[in-house]
Amino acid sequence: MRNNTPVNAKVVKDEVLNSGLEKIGRGSIREIVKLVNSIEAKTGTEFIRMEMGVPGLSPPQVGVDAEIEALKRGVAAKYPMIEGVKDLKEEISIFIKLFLNIDINPEACIPTVGSMMGAMASFMVANRNDHTKEGTLFIDPGFPVQKQQVRVLGHDYCSFDIYNYRGPKLKSKLLTYLKTGKISSILYSNPNNPSWICFTEEELQIIGELANKYDVIVIEDLAYFGMDFRKDYSQPGKPPYQPTVGNYTDNYILLISSSKAFSYAGQRVGMMAISDKLFARKYPDLLRYYTSDGFGYSMIYGALYALSSGVTHSAQYGLAGILKAVNNGSYNYFEDVKEYGEKAKIMKQLFLNNGFSMVYDKDIDQPIADGFYFTFSYPGFLGVDLLEELLYYGISAISLEITGSSRKEGVRACVSLVQRNKFNLLEERLMRFNADHSP
Ligand SMILES: Cc1ncc(COP(=O)(O)O)c(C=O)c1O
Repeated sequence: MRNNTPVNAKVVKDEVLNSGLEKIGRGSIREIVKLVNSIEAKTGTEFIRMEMGVPGLSPPQVGVDAEIEALKRGVAAKYPMIEGVKDLKEEISIFIKLFLNIDINPEACIPTVGSMMGAMASFMVANRNDHTKEGTLFIDPGFPVQKQQVRVLGHDYCSFDIYNYRGPKLKSKLLTYLKTGKISSILYSNPNNPSWICFTEEELQIIGELANKYDVIVIEDLAYFGMDFRKDYSQPGKPPYQPTVGNYTDNYILLISSSKAFSYAGQRVGMMAISDKLFARKYPDLLRYYTSDGFGYSMIYGALYALSSGVTHSAQYGLAGILKAVNNGSYNYFEDVKEYGEKAKIMKQLFLNNGFSMVYDKDIDQPIADGFYFTFSYPGFLGVDLLEELLYYGISAISLEITGSSRKEGVRACVSLVQRNKFNLLEERLMRFNADHSP
């Protein structure tokens, strides 16, 4: 029984009702953010905020300095080229060689307004290259807004939860979708948001080989580049490298976000890199939408032109500055972001000590890594209800239901905004929750 909760219960109840959402636990990430902002403002009680994947670190100074310099040079007055500024394209290509060990020409390395736009543009071209195909297969759980993108474009999609199809089982599961002949593209994130599952080489090989066989384009979302903290992928030009499907197929687009690995979310500049072969490939069906049948050409002068005509000029130089420093070894991003994994280890234990369980708890045969997110449940609750109940205890998160997960009991927590000096408060609130609800 809930009583005398850390957050004024009447305000929580009223705000949940006022939100206009039928079920708050099914709200989008941004809707939960808005609701919690409003409860915090009305009660003056600070929440443990775990709903949104915002970097909790400062941006690298090299990026900030490079942007300021570019602004002083007057770039703000000029339209940037849609395909990106030369310096950035070259640094992206070098970065991909040094940290993924694959070769992509600068021509096919293109800045986007975050990986959000990278995904949108990818769907706009990859899902329109063959009139007999219908849309995207999402390997879930996943980032909900990407399905929203496919929906607003009027494409079809299907999805399945990877948890029960790890390792060799992935092949037969993928085949059930690919054999329909209707799949244009496959999208997954690796490490996975929200489960923090990391694909093995065997799994990437299965995906790559099937993409070749069924002529499907893999959109590999590396939003958490290098953030499987069990390995250090951050030494330029030295193994181990960030795993990628690019080792097994030429049918790929990489989306590399600068938001988390480089704490550069606010500048909305990410990277799209298309395999050289795919970039040059001709698809006559693209002419239904674009003036060219070339994949790369349609991406730049069709999709990206229509979306925003390029990326903020100064932000491109900021990212180029960061990449230059990462590439020449003077800035090691891993040293900054590994703090997330260290915090996750402590926070997970606080949940486990107080009656909660981890939902995605295994990466095949190993415990799931400590990363940017973790997933939890509490006995007797569905995730959507647990999320709502936790609001009374000053803890915010999102339900796994909105991520395409089959684990309806689950909730996703993001560690980034919870500072270490809030761990005691988190523990206190979890203890209160457990005392009120323990079966
Ligand atoms: C899996 C995934 N893809 C893409 C994005 C968006 O990245 P960006 O900030 O580069 O648009 C996120 C952000 O949280 C994400 O989690």
